[in-house]
Amino acid sequence: MTSDLDATARDILRANDRGGYTIPTAGLYPYQWNWDSAFAAWGFSTFDIDRAWTELETLFSGQWSNGMVPHILFHKPDPGYFPGPEVWQSGTTPPTSGISQPPVAAILARLIHQRDPENSRLAALYPKLLAWHRWWREHRCTHGPAAVTHPWESGRDNCPEWDPGMANVDGSNVGPYTRRDTGHVDPSMRPKKEDYDRYVAILQFGRDHGWDQKEIVANGPFLMADPAMTFILIRAHRDLAEIARTLGEDPSEPESWARDLEAALPEIWNADLHCYDARDLRTGTFANTLGSGAFLAWLAGIENGEMERRLMACWDAVPYGIPSSDPKGPAFDPRRYWRGPTWPVVNALIAMGFRDAGRTAEERRLRGETAALITKGGFYEYFDPTDGTPCGGDTFTWTAAIWLGWASPSAGDA
Ligand code: SER
Repeated sequence: MTSDLDATARDILRANDRGGYTIPTAGLYPYQWNWDSAFAAWGFSTFDIDRAWTELETLFSGQWSNGMVPHILFHKPDPGYFPGPEVWQSGTTPPTSGISQPPVAAILARLIHQRDPENSRLAALYPKLLAWHRWWREHRCTHGPAAVTHPWESGRDNCPEWDPGMANVDGSNVGPYTRRDTGHVDPSMRPKKEDYDRYVAILQFGRDHGWDQKEIVANGPFLMADPAMTFILIRAHRDLAEIARTLGEDPSEPESWARDLEAALPEIWNADLHCYDARDLRTGTFANTLGSGAFLAWLAGIENGEMERRLMACWDAVPYGIPSSDPKGPAFDPRRYWRGPTWPVVNALIAMGFRDAGRTAEERRLRGETAALITKGGFYEYFDPTDGTPCGGDTFTWTAAIWLGWASPSAGDA
C-alpha cells in the first residue's frame, strides 16, 4: 500500500514535469510556482537527485536583477490561467509575476544537499539564494517583521489574516476580467469575487508603477506583517548561513538578518490573542485571528507556553491536520482555500519545526494525520480538516513531494 502510494507520488511529479520545471497541477496552475517548485525539488531528491537540482536552477532562472525570485515563471503561454504574463507585464525573460513567495528554497536546498553532499550545484545556487534573501531584507523587512505586499505573496491567498488589509483595498475600478480558476475547481473552494477584484487592484498598482519596490512598500494598497513569512525567513536565513558554512563562505550576513527578525517579533505579538498575529502596517491593526501561519513559530525555534496552549486548542478542535484558520473563529470555512482547510505542505513545514524542537509526539501526530488524509483522499491540494474531504486541485505536485519527503512511512523519521 505504502509502496503503491510512493509510486503514485513519483508518477505525479514526473507527469507534472514540463521539462526542467514542475507545474503544481495541470489546468488550475499551468506554470512554475516558486514555493511549489522548491517542494517539488525536495520530492524529486528522494528518487532523482539531478532532477531536484535542475528544478531549483530553473526557478532561479527567473530571478530579477534586484534579487527577487518571482512567485510565477511563465515559461510557455497558457490561456487557462488568469492573471497571465500579459497582465503582470514584468518585462523580463522568462516573463514572470511581479511579487515573490515564501522563501523556502534555502530550507529545502539544504535538505537536498544533505542527500547529495558531494554535488557542487549548491555552490552555484548560493549567491542567487543570498541575493534573494537580501531582497527580502531590503524590500520586505523595512518595518521590522517580514511583510507581504499582496496576499498572493504570502502563499496563503485568502486566509482571514489578510482581511483588515484587504478592507483598505478598492477593487471597484479594476475593469473587466475573466477568472479561470473557477472553471477548474468548485468555486465554493476558491476565493470570492470581492477577493479577486482586490487581488487584481493590488497587481495593477505594482504594474502601473513599473514594479518599483520602494513605491509599492511606501504607497501600495496592501502591506501587512506576516508571522508565517517572518518565521520562514528566520529559518531560511539560518539554513542559508549553514549552507554558507558548508561551502566555506561567510555566514555572518544571513545570521545577522535572522537575529534582526527575531528582535522584531514583539511587534507582531498580539497579547489579546496570546499568539503572533498578522498586522496591517498601514493602520497598525492586528488581524486578531489564528491560523496555521502562527504554528510556524517552531520552525524558527520560537516557543512559549502561552502561545502553545492557544495553538494546541486550535489543532485539537479538528481531527485532520493543522487548520488554516481557527475552527472556533468566525471566519472558519473548512473547504474554502486558506480560510479553514488543512494543507499537507504547511503541515510538513510545521512538522520540521516540531522535530527540531524535540516535539516528537506532535511531529508524529501531524505526520499521521497528514498521511491519513492522503491515503484516504489522494494527492489533493488541501483537505477539509473536519472530515478529511479532499479539496482543490488533484494530482498535486507538492502533496506528492511532501509524501515522499516526509509523510510516507518510507520517508522514516527524517
Ligand atoms: N495562488 C494564486 C492562484 O490561485 C496565485 O499564486 O492563482
